[in-house]
Amino acid sequence: MITLKSKREIEKMAESGALLAGVHRALRNFIKPGITSWDIEEFVKNAIESQGAIAAQIGYEGYKYATCCSINDEICHGFPRRKTLKNGDLIKVDMCVELNGAISDSCWAYVVGEASPEVAQLMDVTKKALYLGIEQAKVGNRIGDIGHAIQTYAEKEGYGVVRDFIGHGIGPTIHESPAVPHYGEAGKGLRLKEGMVITIEPMINTGTWKMKMDSNGWTARTLDGGLSCQYEHSIAITADGPLILTSQGEEGTY
Ligand code: MF3
Ligand code: CO
Repeated sequence: MITLKSKREIEKMAESGALLAGVHRALRNFIKPGITSWDIEEFVKNAIESQGAIAAQIGYEGYKYATCCSINDEICHGFPRRKTLKNGDLIKVDMCVELNGAISDSCWAYVVGEASPEVAQLMDVTKKALYLGIEQAKVGNRIGDIGHAIQTYAEKEGYGVVRDFIGHGIGPTIHESPAVPHYGEAGKGLRLKEGMVITIEPMINTGTWKMKMDSNGWTARTLDGGLSCQYEHSIAITADGPLILTSQGEEGTY
């Protein structure tokens, strides 16, 4: 069942999203060679809780941390850990914030120190793919239009689009209907309606889209050991077009 959100509910989700976006902006200066992903976890948890919000990933389906910190070939659901990050590492930090009962969800990619050309290119294409998908998230379009825009662009650039993890509806709970794949056919699938709130969160790989699961049962990594990147926003579908609830104020530059 898909729940449509009222203007008031969307305003609350935007407040949650603004808090989350502020945490990501703060991470830009925090992430540097020599720190660990455990340092990121503590920084994020404290930033969320000190502002009176809840780090909503903790306890979700038994997950233990405020963040997922997925490094290099890790696609998603990497555990924060006490391993030192080194120059050139690509880290994706994913988090969910609950504020006044409204949840927002956003993942952002960071390079530790300086990016190699390979990392810079992958980050650039992944972010553009996200915004191409968001552009399609408007009333009257279909779910397939979002995935189609992302897949055709990413594959034209020679990259693989992860199939095993997809975007989702979001609201009072992290994962709601509908499912939002980052691949698909234009004009196919459910029609988008005013009041739907979804995430778009493409995971793009330098090589194959296929993944393997770590023995911890959570962390997915690329089957061929290639790099994986991800950016994610929470988006409300409004009469005026897609509203990015987790905006860091950079739209228009893409
Ligand atoms: N933020 C993740 C997403 O984009 C949720 C991860 S599930 C958790 O869907 F258990 F790791 F929190
Ligand atoms: Co999500």
